[in-house]
Amino acid sequence: MSKPSLKLITTQDGSHSLLREDLNETYHSFHGAMGESVYVFIEQCLDPWVKANPGEPVKIFEVGFGTGLNAWLAAIYSQQHQLKVEFHTVEPIPVPKGIYSQFNYGQSAEQKDLLQKIHDAEWETLIEIHSFFSIIKYETTLEAFSATEGFNCIFFDAFAPSKQAEVWSIDNIQKCYDICAEDGILSTYCAQGQFKRNLKAAGFAMETLKGAMGKKEMVIGRKSISE
Ligand SMILES: C[S@@+](CC[C@H](N)C(=O)[O-])C[C@H]1O[C@@H](n2cnc3c(N)ncnc32)[C@H](O)[C@@H]1O
Repeated sequence: MSKPSLKLITTQDGSHSLLREDLNETYHSFHGAMGESVYVFIEQCLDPWVKANPGEPVKIFEVGFGTGLNAWLAAIYSQQHQLKVEFHTVEPIPVPKGIYSQFNYGQSAEQKDLLQKIHDAEWETLIEIHSFFSIIKYETTLEAFSATEGFNCIFFDAFAPSKQAEVWSIDNIQKCYDICAEDGILSTYCAQGQFKRNLKAAGFAMETLKGAMGKKEMVIGRKSISE
């Protein structure tokens, strides 16, 4: 398959995202890439897990590395909280350097450099980006991923089910359940009915939360219901 055409766009909070032209689908909410990622994945998944498990190292699994925004936010969080984070992510269509080198994430030179280090990191190898954050990027789909296990946080950040229904299949959600640690949380911007049913069928306790950037709802799944 030829590489799909990707166009750099600026969302309404000023942060960059991408448009995948063959699907006519953006990588983030048009209302704000940064705002959406911070809310859905850091504030509703990573931060609650860390607060419930103070000082514990965190293993994160992400579906769809894309712009690297979620990995970069997790790397900043790990530095700020002096907390070890190991980040695993799958991505079948890596963004070319000519595009990722233009992303406007980060205020300081250090933060900008962090994003580039994450993107430049070799694939299929666990790479230490700084003393608190390591990443392994797998160039594959979730469907083909040979899963390891014990993930405390799962960032499910695929394209919408209306564009890529296969990624939200029950088999894929079951795989996420199986690799999730007992205390793990899966988070996603999506609140589609079929997805919610798949999440429950896989065994997750499903919660609907207020969505990001004016969106009505988002969803988290917990592997075990806390007492
Ligand atoms: C909504 S974008 C979000 C990406 C990223 N988290 C970000 O913040 O930029 C979805 C990503 O999933 C990737 N993707 C497409 N099919 C996939 C599959 N079958 N398994 C895993 N990822 C997939 C896309 O290439 C794209 O990078």
